[in-house]
Amino acid sequence: MERKKVTPQALLAKKKEGKKITMLTAYDFALASFIDQSGIDMILVGDSLGMVVLGYDSTVPVTMDEMIHHCKAVRRGVQYAFIVGDMPFMSYNISREEAIRNAGRFIKEAGCDAVKLEGGLEAAETVRAIVSAGIPVMAHIGLTPQTAGQLGGFKVQGKDAVSARRLLDSALALEEAGACSIVMECIPDKLAGLISKSLRIPTIGIGAGPECDGQVLVTNDLLGLFERFTPKFVKQYIKLFPIIKEAVQAYKKEVEAVKFPSSEHTFVMEAKELSGIRVKKKGKLKNDGPVKSRHSRAGGNPGPA
Ligand code: KIV
Repeated sequence: MERKKVTPQALLAKKKEGKKITMLTAYDFALASFIDQSGIDMILVGDSLGMVVLGYDSTVPVTMDEMIHHCKAVRRGVQYAFIVGDMPFMSYNISREEAIRNAGRFIKEAGCDAVKLEGGLEAAETVRAIVSAGIPVMAHIGLTPQTAGQLGGFKVQGKDAVSARRLLDSALALEEAGACSIVMECIPDKLAGLISKSLRIPTIGIGAGPECDGQVLVTNDLLGLFERFTPKFVKQYIKLFPIIKEAVQAYKKEVEAVKFPSSEHTFVMEAKELSGIRVKKKGKLKNDGPVKSRHSRAGGNPGPA
């Protein structure tokens, strides 16, 4: 079947047809293009960037400029997936005007298809304002990492009837405000199922069980590329970190033993040319111009000599 660019309408149709939606995070061109080629519906340039790529202790320090920089790289690698840019802490919390201006940067400068922001009932009017400006918004409820301190830490949310009811009310208010989908993080499976059935828009779960309309994971977690900790809801489909370490150690060994580069990876010149090199000054060879390499401005790999 011919693949088409994923739109909010296509995501709604998937929910209606009972087909699960797939979403993963990406932060750069290379991984984004692999994910897109693998047929994933949605790519989130999450502010998890701060932890898994930039090495911060939380998502709180991530800036708008950092997000825009990485969203642009992801955009260049993606043809089909619906790209969502995550609004960082304090980029949408101060005023509606600022929230719209910052959301606009994700669309105008970075080429994202939508923005995501965290918050329940209290975020509904901000969602409405951004949507009214013509920008699709994905909401995020449950465990909201930017304000985890207020929630008493990184804990499962909505475990009792009162807080569960509040999450359901939040989801309904966000849908009414115009959100095109909702991430639900770390909530009990049956509550996630109830919310998903109560909404017209798709729910995307992370640590919210199988009854959501779709699932999202941080790609670095799924690939075993983040070593600091692994949340319970993460399934590591491969452990890349030890594989990468092994390759890097093999390279180190070969360089130190002068096994790399071998003739296969080396350029040669004819002996007569070598002996004909004109020497300008003692110890300084004549420079015949730049060598083309992956790092030259023209780009391109020179390939075999
Ligand atoms: O920043 C992020 O990656 C997220 C996902 C965990 C949903 O918000």
